[in-house]
Amino acid sequence: MTGSETQLKRILVLYYSFSSQTKNLVQSILDGMAEYQQAEVICERINPSIPQQFPIGTIPKTVHKMIVTLFRQRIPIHPLPEYCFEPYDLLILAGPTWSYNPCGPVLSLLDRDGQRLFNDKTVIPVISCRGFWRMHWWGIKSLLKKAGARVPNGIIFTHTSKEPWRTIGVFLKLAGETPERMSWMKDHYPKYGHTRQQIDEARKFGEMIARAVTQGEELERLEFNTKLAIYEK
Ligand SMILES: Cc1cc2nc3c(=O)[nH]c(=O)nc-3n(C[C@H](O)[C@H](O)[C@H](O)COP(=O)(O)O)c2cc1C
Repeated sequence: MTGSETQLKRILVLYYSFSSQTKNLVQSILDGMAEYQQAEVICERINPSIPQQFPIGTIPKTVHKMIVTLFRQRIPIHPLPEYCFEPYDLLILAGPTWSYNPCGPVLSLLDRDGQRLFNDKTVIPVISCRGFWRMHWWGIKSLLKKAGARVPNGIIFTHTSKEPWRTIGVFLKLAGETPERMSWMKDHYPKYGHTRQQIDEARKFGEMIARAVTQGEELERLEFNTKLAIYEK
């Protein structure tokens, strides 16, 4: 290899998204990464083998889902393509919070493929949540470390409406309502999920990650804990 040639770095992004919020963040992260041509980025959706319907549709079904996810119910998933198990310089594992935990499809992935995918790898988790992310963050870090991964950093995006509206809003949205149009909600709850500015912030994070990976910078030093990403109160 001549001095001017650089080794292509490889990044694998794995994600699950129920109501498109993680998907939007991941798409923007990928757009940011695309700025760096020395990085080959592969993205793979984690696909449940039992179809997951959004919205859940009714209040009783939503309450039931909240309860079973509190007990970390697994959602079975299809096998990943073989190329996911090849060597990568970095893996990103993205998914929503479900009742303080990683979501069911991500838990299934960790159970089934955790060692094979993550052992000796560097992994950055990405969390999309309404607002309660700490338990999910500790949990996913610990599960990844148990699988043999190094977790140098993490990306967390919360929704931006104020409490209690964002909790009520998410619940109603999952139950199949449109809280952003309800007369008693709409002044407090303009939108379900992440804002345009947060999606733009995710793009910046994607650029930062790809730059760090291609230029050998420390991933620990990347600042993802910004006011736009994590909305406290
Ligand atoms: C069953 C279920 C449980 C949830 N529990 C939490 C929770 O404990 N904390 C939280 O902040 N958000 C919780 N949420 C909200 C989601 O994490 C949030 O809406 C996220 O942005 C959805 O991402 P997605 O569209 O990629 O699935 C829950 C959502 C569902 C479907």
